[in-house]
Amino acid sequence: MSAKPIALQHLPADLDKERLPDHVAVIMDGNGRWAKGRSLPRVMGHQKGVDTLKDLLRCCRDWGIPALTAYAFSTENWGRPIEEVQFLMTLFERVLRKELSDMMKEDVCIRFIGNLSSLPPSLQEEIFRSMKDTEKNTGIQFTVATNYGGREEITHACKSIAAKVQQGLLKVEEINELTIDDHLYTKGLPSPDLLIRTSGEMRLSNFLLWQLAYAEIYVTPTLWPDFDRSQFHQALISYQSRERRFGKL
Ligand code: IPE
Ligand code: IPE
Ligand code: MG
Repeated sequence: MSAKPIALQHLPADLDKERLPDHVAVIMDGNGRWAKGRSLPRVMGHQKGVDTLKDLLRCCRDWGIPALTAYAFSTENWGRPIEEVQFLMTLFERVLRKELSDMMKEDVCIRFIGNLSSLPPSLQEEIFRSMKDTEKNTGIQFTVATNYGGREEITHACKSIAAKVQQGLLKVEEINELTIDDHLYTKGLPSPDLLIRTSGEMRLSNFLLWQLAYAEIYVTPTLWPDFDRSQFHQALISYQSRERRFGKL
C-alpha cells in the first residue's frame, strides 16, 4: 500500500510567499487535554504531540519558512508529577536519537535553548550530539526550548554581562540592546515574527519574553496534537492580514 500523500505539501496559493514570517515560534499546549478527551493517560498526548511537531517542521521547510522555535519544557514544568517529567525527558531523548538521521537528510540545523545543564546527563549527551552533527545544515533552523524560561534566560544574560564588566572586558556605557541580544540563548536568531499558541490559553508562560516584543500573536483553541498543516495555513492567513506598525503610524 502506498503511503498517504501529505495534504498541503506546497505553499497554499492564497499565501504571499514574499510576506511569510522569517521565524515562527510555537507554544505547543494542550497535550494533556487532548489525551483526557480520549480517556488516555496525559503522556499519550505528549507522544502524539511529537508527530505534530515533526510535520510542522517539515511544513516550514516545504513552504519556505527558514526558522521554527518550539517550547518543549519550561522551567516551571518541573513542578509536574515526577512520572510525567520523567516520561518527557525520556521521550525527548528517544525522539532525538531516532530523528537525527532524518534531520541530517532533511538539512535541519537543530539547536536547544534553556538551562541545559540541569537536564539528565544522557539527554544532554543526545542534545550536544545533535547540535554538533547538524550545525552546518542550512535547510531550516530548528530551535527547541527545553528547561527554558524567559526570566532565567534574561538573568543568565545579566550575569554574563556583569562578569564581563567586572573583568574589564566591557564598559557599562557600551551596553545596549544588541549586547543583551548577544547574551541570550537565542544569539544570532532573528526575533520571531509570529507566535502561535494552541489550546486557547492567552498567555506567554515565560516564553521568549525579550524576543517576542513585536511578534504577532495567534491563539487557536485547537489542541497541539490536532494542529495540522491546515491549521498552520489559517495562522499564516491571519498573520498576513495584520498590519505590523512597530509603534509607527
Ligand atoms: C504542553 O501540553 C506540553 C508541555 C507543557 C510539556 P500540556 O501538558 O501543558 O497540556 P495541557 O495544557 O495540560 O492540556
Ligand atoms: C507552556 O505550557 C510550556 C510548554 C508548552 C512547554 P504550560 O501548560 O506549562 O503553561 P501554563 O501552565 O498553562 O501557563
Ligand atoms: Mg498546558
